[in-house]
Amino acid sequence: MKQIILTGDRPTGRLHVGHYVGSLKERVRLQNSGRYDEIYIMIADAQALTDNAEHPEKVRQNIMQVALDYLACGLDPAKSTLFIQSMVPQLTELTFYYMNLVTVSRVQRNPTVKAEIAMRNFEASIPVGFFCYPISQAADITAFCATAVPVGEDQMPMLEQCKEIVHKFNSVYGETLTDPQIILPQNASCQRLPGIDGKAKMSKSLGNCIYLSDEPEEIRKKVMSMFTDPNHLRVEDPGTVEGNPVFIYLDAFCRPEYFEEFLPEYSGLEELKDHYRRGGLGDVKVKKFLNRVIQAELEPIRERRKSWEQRLPEVYEILREGSAAAEKKAAKTLARVRHAMRIDYFENDNLLK
Ligand code: TRP
Repeated sequence: MKQIILTGDRPTGRLHVGHYVGSLKERVRLQNSGRYDEIYIMIADAQALTDNAEHPEKVRQNIMQVALDYLACGLDPAKSTLFIQSMVPQLTELTFYYMNLVTVSRVQRNPTVKAEIAMRNFEASIPVGFFCYPISQAADITAFCATAVPVGEDQMPMLEQCKEIVHKFNSVYGETLTDPQIILPQNASCQRLPGIDGKAKMSKSLGNCIYLSDEPEEIRKKVMSMFTDPNHLRVEDPGTVEGNPVFIYLDAFCRPEYFEEFLPEYSGLEELKDHYRRGGLGDVKVKKFLNRVIQAELEPIRERRKSWEQRLPEVYEILREGSAAAEKKAAKTLARVRHAMRIDYFENDNLLK
């Protein structure tokens, strides 16, 4: 069986380091592993519109931003097809057929949908399109016959819902759709990076993000203002490492060689953590180290982003060609779906029988 990746992001803002460690870094690793036959990376503008119906301009403007972030991270258009969701109309048609295979109460139980409804204060006024986005996400995944979906941990309920739709479709209409596997980051600290304020999630609306495109001085300010252990008041006090954002970030970003380079008096992260726990290690020193680590990680990304910013017409072509290729692939799946459902009326003489 062909090994195929499909994943994507909503274009509602620039991407941040939470996206990077939670998913983008993994995608680039998988892309370069040579283990995949096809890779599709989708800018999910139609999904973004499900809760931004009044702000299509915001979604439109962020399409290029997300594309730049993708290219900056090392997604390579020679290996991965980058495309725009709404340019593949087959996804909408698939969604419409899948809607009949899912109950309202099942979507209501989806934990991600529940949390998002609460976050947006939608309770009594959920747009129908928003409510259906888990179904449309199943269409995205199955249209490309994806075997692997690298995403953050928050997308797990979406994958479960997708698998249910696949099984239901295959049992009603016969084996047609591919059952996808979720791929989570291996490093647990990468799965849900907290905001710099210590809140559970990095999110644009909370204003607690470090963006991939932030300038070095902005990054430094954000790192130095980070929330740490609130009980670690004086340098001599023992500190807590678990749940401390500064150490979660170090777990997510630090490579052993950074100690040699920036903090040679420690052999590695475990020794640094032990010292913090014992007391005698100040937050400022840890933050300064974290700043150098993050700067080292983000500099090549920012520089690549700047070079792509000089070549926007090329980025536009990448998306245009990618979207055309994606449409071709989705059209093939849709033909198989229509055939399985026996609604491919003019492909044969079934209607006459
Ligand atoms: N829901 C994802 C996000 O918010 C974006 C997305 C849309 C997606 N369709 C997908 C991710 C299919 C993986 C597979 O970032």
